[in-house]
Amino acid sequence: MSKQFSKISVVGLGYVGLPLSLQFARSGVSVLGLDLDPKKVDSINRGESYLKHFSSESIAEQVEAGRLEATTNPSRISEAEAILICVPTPLSEYREPDLSFVLDTARSLAPHLPKGVLVALESTTYPGTTEDELRVVLEEGSGMKAGVDFHLAYSPEREDPGREDASVKTIPKVVGGYTKECGDIAEALYGRAIDVIHRVSSCRVAEATKLLENIFRSVNIALVNELKVVYEAMNIDVHEVISAAATKPFGFMPFRPGPGLGGHCIPIDPFYLTWKAREFGKHTRFIELAGEINTAMPDYVLSKVTDALNDEGKAVKGSKVLILGLAYKANVDDCRESPSFILMEKLMIKGARAEYHDSFVPVIPETREHPQLAGKQSVEIEDVYDLILLSTDHSEYKTFDFSKFNCPIVDSRNCILQKPSKYYKA
Ligand SMILES: NC(=O)c1ccc[n+]([C@@H]2O[C@H](COP(=O)([O-])OP(=O)(O)OC[C@H]3O[C@@H](n4cnc5c(N)ncnc54)[C@H](O)[C@@H]3O)[C@@H](O)[C@H]2O)c1
Repeated sequence: MSKQFSKISVVGLGYVGLPLSLQFARSGVSVLGLDLDPKKVDSINRGESYLKHFSSESIAEQVEAGRLEATTNPSRISEAEAILICVPTPLSEYREPDLSFVLDTARSLAPHLPKGVLVALESTTYPGTTEDELRVVLEEGSGMKAGVDFHLAYSPEREDPGREDASVKTIPKVVGGYTKECGDIAEALYGRAIDVIHRVSSCRVAEATKLLENIFRSVNIALVNELKVVYEAMNIDVHEVISAAATKPFGFMPFRPGPGLGGHCIPIDPFYLTWKAREFGKHTRFIELAGEINTAMPDYVLSKVTDALNDEGKAVKGSKVLILGLAYKANVDDCRESPSFILMEKLMIKGARAEYHDSFVPVIPETREHPQLAGKQSVEIEDVYDLILLSTDHSEYKTFDFSKFNCPIVDSRNCILQKPSKYYKA
């Protein structure tokens, strides 16, 4: 393998693209980040972080060393020997795959593709996207042939924002190429920055691998969510059961129940496969059932809120409720698809006055699904509410002293250690 990869471009500098850029830069590869968002680009060039779980120093160090630079200009990808695409793959309003970000990116890059470049897609998607959709757009726009004039691969990102026991460098990377040579080149590139590369036979296998990982989580979360409801009826604490089962050294992996799924991956990605499977006349019953159970969880949590208020002789209507945590998971600022939004909206529809607290999300950003909540600000945690509902298990709530609080607290994550007298698990 003669390629040295002295300069690459990472397209899409979000939760996936930024850490990937930093890892390549730390490994001595010059990285040109490309994003449509000028705020992110300026922030990187100033050496400042825009994601809470990354320090500005980690960015500034690479910028100052001349290994990291960002731009909004797609023509500059002509400087790169490899291009890694990390743009969003959401669902449309009809819950169908929305590949518009991937294909728009391809259209903007294609006229500037240098000969011999490697293009690798990292965005989560259904099998066939790289070979049947991305390839066609790149070939049409560049006049070149994949596998001949440029190389094409798929390598799914396994980023887990906020996780401290694994990093981009140490998480093994699955890589599949359009041709054997494409795969060899992609393997060599990722090997520059990542400890372990697991090579698979095609882009399709790599795409299917990522979906299996996310479907596995969705189905197992649905299972413990269902068990939570069943065991509660039997007066058995599901968390104690899961902790006990987790002592088995093989054949069991603990998943925890919660108020519903959130984030950019688990509520969305499984449905990429559901959609694609229909083309082959196949149904994905496990995925659908898991989706049904997981999306019912906010209503279960709200039934506990109603019960807790009822014990106080109060109705949801007119009650002041504080939601703890807006992010979809602990200790990050990402609130995409967060169940907290659904809880907040459902409470408001029933006539409650809902506020939230989240140190990671001081103001609710614009979202496609909840535009009416944008601009709402985080408030203090005080004992002035009719009820407090914990939705996200940020570490600060674990240690917060709620023991003197008078109002009922409904905890949907089994999180609070210093509990008030009126404590409800949901
Ligand atoms: N967030 C995660 O934890 C995670 C984990 C694994 C995989 N993924 C997958 O990785 C992909 C990216 O997710 P993310 O969370 O980083 O998204 P993100 O929204 O945080 O970042 C995407 C970035 O792409 C930019 N962008 C969009 N269109 C562009 C274009 N045409 N040209 C240049 N930039 C463009 C956006 O401005 C944004 O900054 C998705 O497919 C996601 O499913 C995400």
